Amino acid sequence: MSKHNAKLVDRRYLTPSDVEKKTLHLEIVFEEPIAYLPGDSIAIDVLNPPSKVEKWLKKFDRRGSERIEHKRTKEEIDLYSYLLEHVNLQSVQEGDLSRARPLMPRFYSIASSSSIFPNQIHLLVTLDEFIDGEGEKTMGVGSHYLANYLSLYDTCRFKVFPNELFRLPEPTTPIIMIGPGTGLAPFKAFLEERIYQNAPAKNWLLFGERNRRSHFYYEDFLVGLSETGQLDLSLAFSRDQDKKIYVQDRLRENREKLFSYLEEGASIYICGDAKVMAKGVTETLEELYRDKMGVSDDEARDWLRRLKGEKRLHLDVY
Ligand SMILES: Cc1cc2nc3c(=O)[nH]c(=O)nc-3n(C[C@H](O)[C@H](O)[C@H](O)COP(=O)(O)OP(=O)(O)OC[C@H]3O[C@@H](n4cnc5c(N)ncnc54)[C@H](O)[C@@H]3O)c2cc1C
Ligand SMILES: NC(=O)c1ccc[n+]([C@@H]2O[C@H](COP(=O)([O-])OP(=O)(O)OC[C@H]3O[C@@H](n4cnc5c(N)ncnc54)[C@H](OP(=O)(O)O)[C@@H]3O)[C@@H](O)[C@H]2O)c1
Repeated sequence: MSKHNAKLVDRRYLTPSDVEKKTLHLEIVFEEPIAYLPGDSIAIDVLNPPSKVEKWLKKFDRRGSERIEHKRTKEEIDLYSYLLEHVNLQSVQEGDLSRARPLMPRFYSIASSSSIFPNQIHLLVTLDEFIDGEGEKTMGVGSHYLANYLSLYDTCRFKVFPNELFRLPEPTTPIIMIGPGTGLAPFKAFLEERIYQNAPAKNWLLFGERNRRSHFYYEDFLVGLSETGQLDLSLAFSRDQDKKIYVQDRLRENREKLFSYLEEGASIYICGDAKVMAKGVTETLEELYRDKMGVSDDEARDWLRRLKGEKRLHLDVY
């Protein structure tokens, strides 16, 4: 897998400025088309925030111009560049550079179809903001790099990571896409590709976020498709009412539709949060099957395993 250069040409907040959880749409362009398919991700080389590098240098009374040996390549490099480009700063919080772990690239799902955008890649990125060990509000390294460090028309470097386990089926096979939050990203690519293919089969998207007013990403595109009958759209805005509503609740309400899609041979795709969402969704699928068929929990789990084995259940969760 080779590395590519691309220029950031568009970066827009999809959320209003007054919300706690902020999400960006980004577009990067390259001169020669790069082969990628809906379902693939990219791994972007990121840099640490310069303010954190400077803080580290001050804390340990070191000079950025100091020449040091790169732990892995053994090349001589100045300390500032080493800390900015190569080191996971969390791993050197005691000041001991011999403990430095490498700064890893960050993965993002591709949110565009190369059939429609051969020289571009779109990303949907939610900024990871949290309180660090010193009680300060801070942003994740990749989030900071994409939101603040990289300027418009600057170049970034990335690799495409193909995901053969998350591929669109034949255009005649219906699809059920379950993607709350940034889990929506690959499904924008899926839908663009299905439109490009003029695919005759049905598409059903279950999308969830905090509030409709602030977090309905790509609303015009999705509502437009739903109005022209190209998309079944089920929405779950968790914080628009007192009781949380999640994509699982929409699955329960639409159980007849779910089984009718599956009887027509549909494939199910789940993308987004691995810790709670994906578990909740797979358990709901099992529960609905168990109740419909009057089988045991174990038999319902076997059913889901079979769907996966038949390549009709695909997960891309993180
Ligand atoms: C296959 C794949 C696809 C993905 N697709 C998308 C996508 O389409 N869109 C998207 O938005 N994300 C996506 N992600 C997630 C993305 O890769 C990043 O994990 C996410 O953006 C957070 O990275 P970050 O560098 O901003 O945060 P990091 O710097 O990696 O921090 C992550 C967490 O570590 C902890 N942490 C870090 N530093 C500190 C500190 N100093 N003190 C205390 N705690 C700390 C915090 O809990 C923080 O939330 C994907 C991930 C994978 C694996
Ligand atoms: N540190 C941060 O600032 C931060 C912020 C967001 C996400 N993240 C992390 O980033 C990853 C992806 O986040 P994301 O922004 O794409 O989406 P997300 O956090 O998963 O949220 C998207 C939607 O899913 C809902 N949700 C929460 N729990 C769920 C469950 N068990 N089942 C179904 N839906 C559920 C959320 O509702 P509610 O939130 O109303 O419960 C929200 O409406 C996750 O790993 C998440 O933990 C970090």
